[in-house]
Amino acid sequence: MPQSFTTKNTVIRKIDIMTKADHTKVFAEAPAKEPDRQMYFIEKSRDLLAETEKKAGRKITYDVVTFGCQMNARDSEKLAGILDKMGFEQTDSEDADYVIYNTCTVRENANNKVYGRLGGLGNAKKKNPFKRIALCGCMMQEEHVVQKLRESYRFVDLVFGTHNIFKFAELTYRILAGEEDMIIDIWESTDTIVEELPINRKFAFKSGVNIMFGCDNFCTYCIVPYVRGRERSRKPEDILHEIEVMAKDGVKEVMLLGQNVNSYGKGLEEKISFAGLLREVEKIDGIERIRFMTSHPKDLSDELIDVMASSEKICRHMHLPLQSGSDEILKRMNRHYDKARYLELVAKLREKMPDIAITTDIIVGFPGETEEDFAETVDVVEKARFDSAFTFIYSKRTGTPAAKMDPGADEATVKKRFDKLLKVVQRIAAEQAATHTGETVSVLAEQRNEQDESLITGRMSNNSTVHFKGDVSAIGSIVNVHLDECKGFYYYGTQV
Ligand code: 5AD
Ligand code: SF4
Repeated sequence: MPQSFTTKNTVIRKIDIMTKADHTKVFAEAPAKEPDRQMYFIEKSRDLLAETEKKAGRKITYDVVTFGCQMNARDSEKLAGILDKMGFEQTDSEDADYVIYNTCTVRENANNKVYGRLGGLGNAKKKNPFKRIALCGCMMQEEHVVQKLRESYRFVDLVFGTHNIFKFAELTYRILAGEEDMIIDIWESTDTIVEELPINRKFAFKSGVNIMFGCDNFCTYCIVPYVRGRERSRKPEDILHEIEVMAKDGVKEVMLLGQNVNSYGKGLEEKISFAGLLREVEKIDGIERIRFMTSHPKDLSDELIDVMASSEKICRHMHLPLQSGSDEILKRMNRHYDKARYLELVAKLREKMPDIAITTDIIVGFPGETEEDFAETVDVVEKARFDSAFTFIYSKRTGTPAAKMDPGADEATVKKRFDKLLKVVQRIAAEQAATHTGETVSVLAEQRNEQDESLITGRMSNNSTVHFKGDVSAIGSIVNVHLDECKGFYYYGTQV
């Protein structure tokens, strides 16, 4: 069986894909160069899929299910783009013939969710002879996960990781060609960035754009550097070209994606900073809004703040993960800033852009967190006045340095702190939001409201959601909306 799997430091790759006679011919002909090779497998898969459709007497469908962050959402669009080109029909139901779970592993409960849902897929497979199941994403980069799948989830057809997602067409081809064993292809790392593969955007008018992959920060609680690998920036010309093509295709808003966008450009031949990249994106005709995610406080430069403040297109939103307000905890988290520095950044942002929304991520219950440490976090929330915050209970991730630290507070204490923090966060967010009631703001109209068809849901520059009375023809464009009423973290409004 063709297989590769990760051990601690090396990738063991048993490339025996030539063992099956029917594959030998195809693999012998396949170009070695990417993306030609994947385009070749897309074409080959088209033929195989047409045969399967004949057998089934119907279209063969797929569903890509995304767990986790914006990065995964963008990866899912890449998977969907390839399946569209192969001729699969997209659905949003797990009854589909080909179901792909794009997984997350940033917290333990993300893993549990996947195992829980996999059982149901296994049962569905017994009833549908065309059903195929693939798993990919961050969770697959963990050795114990792959081991568990190998032992207890034999019905899964394909397992691949974050580094070889560009090989999806080739791997899917092998499933379609009837390879019956579970295909497991996990790479420990890669320096390859494959450009120019098809992508199926979820929205016609807005899109994520990867500007870098991986992370070098090694925050001690975080598994991302282990599952997404070392930081690699895409070349500016590739990024700008992708955005130019998108703009011509009707995209008005781009979200530049990276685990730490503020360190963009490291390792590239051409000297360019993130602020420099933003200046270039700003020049692209047709792009009306630019967002980015995520910023690390340690690398947030004055240059970036100035570029934002003077820009017509960069949205008035900064997501700036705090994680903790305690200097001691921040040190043990390996975050490279302290409470004073963080608050200084917030003050600078608000001074240069009084209308900016600042949002954050906070972890409660990091190993050794004392009541005093927690009070420091609440104090930063009170002082920074976050417009919104994602709060998380610390989740131990095997293999990270924090997993070996003394846990400290018990579960009940941590839960109490979490509830207290959530209350403070929600109160301040509602107070912040209320200050905008009565304003007329520009809103990107995104979709019909799911609960109330008479309303359109859109997003303000500061990333707040507004449900407004307006014309459906507005969807996809930026319109002016009066904010009639604030409902805590969203608004009701009227198009003007
Ligand atoms: N436990 C809890 N939260 C975590 N995050 C990352 N790793 C962990 C963990 N082990 C949170 C951080 C990060 C966000 C994406 O997820 O707050 O910013
Ligand atoms: Fe994880 Fe820290 Fe990298 Fe963010 S910056 S992905 S929290 S290691």
